Amino acid sequence: MFHVFLFFLTLLSCGYAYTTLSDETLKTIPEPGTDFNIKDGALLAPILRPRVPGTPGSTAVLNHFVEFFRTSLPEWRLEFQNSTSKTPATGNELIPFVNLIATRDPPWAPPGDVGRLALVAHYDSKLTPTGFIGATDSAAPCAMLMHAARSIDAALTERWEKMEAEGIGSEGYSGVQGHKGVQILLLDGEEAFMTWTHTDSLYGARSLAAEWEQTPNAAMSTFHNPISSISLFLLLDLLGAKNPTIPSYFRTTHWAYRAMGKLEQRLRALGQFKSSPNHPIKKKKRKAKEDAKKQSNNAKKTALKPRKEPQFLSESNNADTRTRGFVEDDHIPFMLRGVEILHMIPTPFPAVWHTMNDDGEHLDIDTVEDWAKLVTAFTAEWMDLEGFMHTSSATKRRAGEEYAQSDKKKRKSSPDEKSEL
Ligand SMILES: *[C@@H]1O[C@H](CO)[C@@H](O)[C@H](O)[C@H]1NC(C)=O
Ligand SMILES: [Zn+2]
Repeated sequence: MFHVFLFFLTLLSCGYAYTTLSDETLKTIPEPGTDFNIKDGALLAPILRPRVPGTPGSTAVLNHFVEFFRTSLPEWRLEFQNSTSKTPATGNELIPFVNLIATRDPPWAPPGDVGRLALVAHYDSKLTPTGFIGATDSAAPCAMLMHAARSIDAALTERWEKMEAEGIGSEGYSGVQGHKGVQILLLDGEEAFMTWTHTDSLYGARSLAAEWEQTPNAAMSTFHNPISSISLFLLLDLLGAKNPTIPSYFRTTHWAYRAMGKLEQRLRALGQFKSSPNHPIKKKKRKAKEDAKKQSNNAKKTALKPRKEPQFLSESNNADTRTRGFVEDDHIPFMLRGVEILHMIPTPFPAVWHTMNDDGEHLDIDTVEDWAKLVTAFTAEWMDLEGFMHTSSATKRRAGEEYAQSDKKKRKSSPDEKSEL
C-alpha cells in the first residue's frame, strides 16, 4: 500500500516535468526573418487587413492559415468549429463565426489521452472604426503562433520517433497526466460589434468552449472532453507594441508565468532579444556614437555601460502574483470550465488600442519577433524538446521560402467581479 502511494506521488510530481532548454538551444531558436515584414512578409502581411466576421477579409485570412498548415505543417490536424449568432450591430442577420483548431498529438496516442498546451489568439478584427486593422489586436499574435508552430514541428517529429523507437510511445505510458500534445486555436468573433458585454463579445470562444464541453472523449480516456484535455491555455493578445508590461494575472499559473519569465531573462542575457537596449547591434551603434563624440572632445574612450534590461513579464521574480483582477478576453469561457490560464496581455494596453493607428506601421517589429521567439522557447520547453531543436539558419530560410511559394471594452475587473465568475 505504501509503495503504491509513493508510486503515485512520483507520477504526479513528474507530470509537468521537462528538461530546461540549454543556452545552445535558446541561441538556435529561429527568427522569423522577413516573414514578419508588414508589406510582403509570408506570415504577417496577409493578416494585416480588416477581417470582420462574415466578410471576405475574414475568409481570406482564414484561408491564409489553412494554406500555411497544409503546405508547411501537414502533420497538424485541422478542424473548424463553426457557429452563427445575431449581433447588436447586424439585426436579425445571422453572422458566421469560424474557429480554426490545429492540433499535433504524439502519433501513437488516442486523442482522449493527450493533454495539450493550447496556444491561442483571436484573428477577427473590430467592426469599428471602419478599416480598423488590429495589428496588435491580434494579427501579430496570430503570426507569432504560426512561427512557434513551424519552429517546433521538426523537433516534435524527431522526439516522438525516438520515443517510439525506444518503446516509450506505446500505450500504457501515458501516466496520470496523459501524453503531451500541442494545439493552436485561432479564434473568431472576440471583438464586440457594438459595446463589450457578455453577449456582444467572445462569440467564437463561447461557442467552442460550450461545444467541447458537450463532446465527450472515448470511454476510459484519460481526459473526459477536449476542455479537460487542455493542460494550459496560453492566450496572446494586444502584443507587438514597444515596451509592454505583462502582469501575472492568475495565482494558479504563476509557476508557468515564471517559467516563461525565466526564458525571457535568459534570451535577453544571451543577446537574443532584438528589442533589448543591450542587444549587440544596439550596443555597437551606441558605442560608435559615443566614441565619435569623445573623439571630437578629445576625451578618453571608455567601455559602454549596459542599459537597464527591461522585462515584458515584469513579475517574474516574485514568488507570488500581486495582481488582483484580470482582463476579459477569450479565456473566460474556458476559465469558467476550469481550464488553467496564462494570459499574455499588457497592462496598460498599447496606446494604439482600438484606434486606426493599430496598424502594421505602428508595430515594433523587434518586439513582435522577440515575442515569437519567447513563445517558441516556452512551447519547446513545455514539449520537452531539449536536444531536438537544431534549426540551422539555412533550414530557417527554407521554411519561409517554401511557404511563400505556394469599442470593445476590455476592462480590469475588480476583485468582487472576479469572485462572481
Ligand atoms: C465551417 O466553415 C468553414 C469555413 O467557412 C468551412 O470550410 C467548413 O466546411 C465549415 N464546416 C462545417 C462543418 O460546416
Ligand atoms: Zn480588440
